[in-house]
Amino acid sequence: MKICMIGSGYVGLVTGACLAEFGMEVICVDNDAAKIALLRKGECPFYEPGLDEVLEKNMKEGRLSFSTDTKQGIKASSVIFIAVGTPAKVDGSSDLSHVEAVARQIAAYMTDYKIIVIKSTVPVGTGKWIKGVMEGALEEKFAFDLVSNPEFLREGAAVEDFFRPDRIVIGAESERAIQAMKEIYNAFYLNEAPFVITSIEASELIKHASNAFLATKISFINEIAILCERVGADVHDVARAMGLDGRIGKKFLHPGPGFGGSCFPKDTKALVHVGKEHDCAMEIVQATIRVNERQKERMLEKIEEMTGDLRGKTIGVLGLAFKPNTDDMREASAIPIIQGLQARGARIKAYDPEAMEAAKKIFQDVTFCKGPYEVAEGSHAIVLLTEWNQFRLLDLERIKGLLKEPVFIDLRNVYEPLHMHGLGFRYCGVGR
Ligand code: UGA
Repeated sequence: MKICMIGSGYVGLVTGACLAEFGMEVICVDNDAAKIALLRKGECPFYEPGLDEVLEKNMKEGRLSFSTDTKQGIKASSVIFIAVGTPAKVDGSSDLSHVEAVARQIAAYMTDYKIIVIKSTVPVGTGKWIKGVMEGALEEKFAFDLVSNPEFLREGAAVEDFFRPDRIVIGAESERAIQAMKEIYNAFYLNEAPFVITSIEASELIKHASNAFLATKISFINEIAILCERVGADVHDVARAMGLDGRIGKKFLHPGPGFGGSCFPKDTKALVHVGKEHDCAMEIVQATIRVNERQKERMLEKIEEMTGDLRGKTIGVLGLAFKPNTDDMREASAIPIIQGLQARGARIKAYDPEAMEAAKKIFQDVTFCKGPYEVAEGSHAIVLLTEWNQFRLLDLERIKGLLKEPVFIDLRNVYEPLHMHGLGFRYCGVGR
C-alpha cells in the first residue's frame, strides 16, 4: 500500500516516517521547498527526539521519500493523509483553508479510487464538509472514502507515542476504508492496542474532547495550587493522593505556569467555538481557558512578590520552550511572562537547550546565554520556566554564588522547598 502524506510538519513527518518504519512506502509532500530540500538531505526541520534515526533509516531503505509535487504524490498513492495546519482564527475557530485546498487538489488530480484520511486536528463536521467539497470539485466521478484518524502524539515524545499508542481512532463510513486503515495499523492490531472504529463525527470530537479534558486537568490543578498556597498545603500531596484514585488518574496533574504549545490553547478555543455554533456553551472548557490565561498573570505577580520592584533588576530565565524536549515556542508561557517582566522594567537573561533560535524571533532585548550559570551571573533572581532535565541537576551552590540575590522561583516545582531553603535560597514553587 502506498501512502502520500500531505503536509510534512510535525504531525505529518512523524506519522509518515513511523508508517515507513512499519514497512509501508510513504511519500511526504510539502509546498515548502526549503523544508523538502532539508529533509532530502536527511535533516529534520525541528527538534524531536528519535525522529532523525527513523528518518535516516527509512530513507536509506527506500521506503520514505520527500517531494513538493502534490500531483505526483496523489497519483502514486492509494491512501492520502491530510496533515496540514489548522491554525486558530481571531475568533478562536479553526482555519480550514489549507485542509480545503488539499482536498481540492486531491479531487483535481485523482484518477482512481482513493482513501483520504484527515489527520489534521479539525472541528467536528469537517469530514462531512470536505466530502461535499470534493464531490463538488470532482470532474469525473471517481469513488473515494473519507476517514478521520486523529493523532495523539505529544511533542518531545512523538516517536515513542506513535509506537505505543493508547488507542487508534478511526472514523469511517465504509468497510473498505476501515479494512485499509486496519491494514496500515496492522502492527498495533497484532499488539492488541485498542481500536475505536466509529463515525467520522465521533472521531473528530474524540480528539478535541481529549485535548480539552487534559487541558482542564491542568487548569484544575493550577487552581487547586493557588488554594494550596493560601491555606498552607502542598499541591503535590493533594495531586498524588487524587491521582491514586484510578478514576482520576495521576497524569496531567502537575501545576505550572499554564499550558501552552500548538494544541491545547488552539483546540480548547476551537471546541468552544464549535459549541457556540451548535448552541452548546462548553462552560467548563471556557473556564479552563480563563484559568490558563490568569495563571500566567499569577506567575508574574509571584515573581514580583519575590523580587520586589522589578525596575532595573535582571531576571535570569531557565527554559523558554512550551515544554521540555522540543524547540517549539508556540503559545509558550515564557512569552507573556518575559514580556510582562520587561513591561515592569526588568532586564532578561535567558537560556534554553533547544528553543533559542525560535525565541530570538519573538523577544526583543533579551540576552541569550550559553548555559544556566551564565544566566545566573549578576541576575537578581532565577525563574525556572521549562523543566528540561539539565535544569534538574544544577550546581545550586554555584548558582547561588553567581546570583546578586539568592532568589529562586521554580515555576515547574523541580526542586524541594525545604532543600532550597536549607541551601539559603529565597525559594518559591507553585502551590507549595
Ligand atoms: C498534546 C496532547 O498531550 C497530545 O496527546 C496531542 O496529540 C497533542 O497535544 C496534539 O493535539 O497534537 P503537546 O501539546 O505536545 O501534546 O504537549 P503536552 O505534553 O500535552 O503538554 C501541553 C502543555 O501542558 C505544556 O505546556 C505542558 O507544560 C503543560 N502541562 C502538561 C502542565 O502544565 N501540567 C501537566 O501536568 C501536563
